[in-house]
Amino acid sequence: MLPGGRLENTVMEEDPIYPNRQGKSVYIETYGCQMNVSDSEMMTRVLKQAGYGVAADLEQADVILLNTCAVREHAEQRILGRVGQLAQCRVRKPHLLLGLCGCMAQHLRDRLLRQIPYLNLVVGPDGYRRLPELIARASEEAVIDVRLDRTEAYEDIAPVRADGVSAFVTIMRGCDKVCSFCIVPFVRGRERSLAPEAILADVRRLAASGVKEITYLGQTVNSYYHDETDFAGLLRRTEDIDGIERIRFMSPYPADMTDRAIEAMASCKKVCRHLHLPLQSASDPVLERMRRQYTVGEYRHLVRRLREAMPDLSLTTDIIVGFPGETEEDFRLTYDFLEEMRYDSAFLFKYSAREGTRAYRWGDILSEEEKNRRLEEIIALQERITVEANREWVGRIADVMVEGESRRSDSEWYGRTSQYKTVVFPRNGERPGEIVPVTIEEARTHTLVGRRAG
Ligand code: 5AD
Repeated sequence: MLPGGRLENTVMEEDPIYPNRQGKSVYIETYGCQMNVSDSEMMTRVLKQAGYGVAADLEQADVILLNTCAVREHAEQRILGRVGQLAQCRVRKPHLLLGLCGCMAQHLRDRLLRQIPYLNLVVGPDGYRRLPELIARASEEAVIDVRLDRTEAYEDIAPVRADGVSAFVTIMRGCDKVCSFCIVPFVRGRERSLAPEAILADVRRLAASGVKEITYLGQTVNSYYHDETDFAGLLRRTEDIDGIERIRFMSPYPADMTDRAIEAMASCKKVCRHLHLPLQSASDPVLERMRRQYTVGEYRHLVRRLREAMPDLSLTTDIIVGFPGETEEDFRLTYDFLEEMRYDSAFLFKYSAREGTRAYRWGDILSEEEKNRRLEEIIALQERITVEANREWVGRIADVMVEGESRRSDSEWYGRTSQYKTVVFPRNGERPGEIVPVTIEEARTHTLVGRRAG
């Protein structure tokens, strides 16, 4: 699974609208994780190939698709609110088609059409190839396509990506884990990996177009396996592609982090020294009820091996507080474990009961107040640790890949270190994509500030 909690509204392209056969244009608004961003890029290709234009903004669109997230109830509530807002656009444009795609579409299915009479289209994550015909039918009657497909990997569809030095590359889809809290296996179906040849060809094309950094994506990205190629093999083959300077991936599943993968990470210079390793809880009974397939001891041992192999590795994680039956003692174990691990940062979530999952049957036992208290406590702890971890960089030189102008000032760049830390520094003739040594002078909560070294 990917770290959630962020809401991204992504305009997929800045091209002007161009007319197609029917003169129709589409706007995709993306919510949730990076996988959804990547899916929207692929959906854009499907639609362009069918002759649709890409609308520069909502106002210009004939079709608005929301690519949605179902991982927590909060995400669904926000999206429902947004659909209501968008329905207003129809007052000015009666022919406007409104569609819900992705995980929430798959989760709520025909219930969505019953609940939202003005919705024209509901399409799950395995139905995107059929989007053109579904949209065509949707102008006649409400259309739903929530078939899951064990083999659909969209391997042959080249995503339409926004320009930049960094790109997402989906390498596997779906999830075969059985975490009792998680809706993903139900909405994204069974695990399937893309052929390495297709992935590497995509990366080579990206390198040729000037991309310097790729992030491999998958629900459990390190479970990647296709014929003879495992995740370690894929990393090693990617390392050889000229032009690509940095390789990241999101998110690995702890129990599938093999020695081979650790060795490949450590020996590939382009593989960044950052690992997002979702823990969820540091109480064994809770992990067992979550069906996470590892114990706290095994996770600790894994982190030890990783840090031994890569001393400069930064580590981030996902935590859920308030899982059904989580006692104060369980919570304390997680709290103390964050202190022990000293994660560079963490996504901290309140448990959200998702209909269809195993844990849903156990109810949402803890009160909202109690869950909030635990969440606030653990956020305060992690914020302190994050600042402390950032301060350790002050005085050191970090290799920063320039990504763009800093938000605060056009005389500063922002970029990232291999450890995924954001660094801001004064511009001095550098270009986006360049990797420059920067002396870190100051650590703010979420940003390091520095100056070019040498
Ligand atoms: N409630 C709260 N958080 C959840 N996550 C997944 N399912 C739930 C849920 N039902 C979190 C996990 C996962 C991240 C992407 O979202 O921490 O790693």
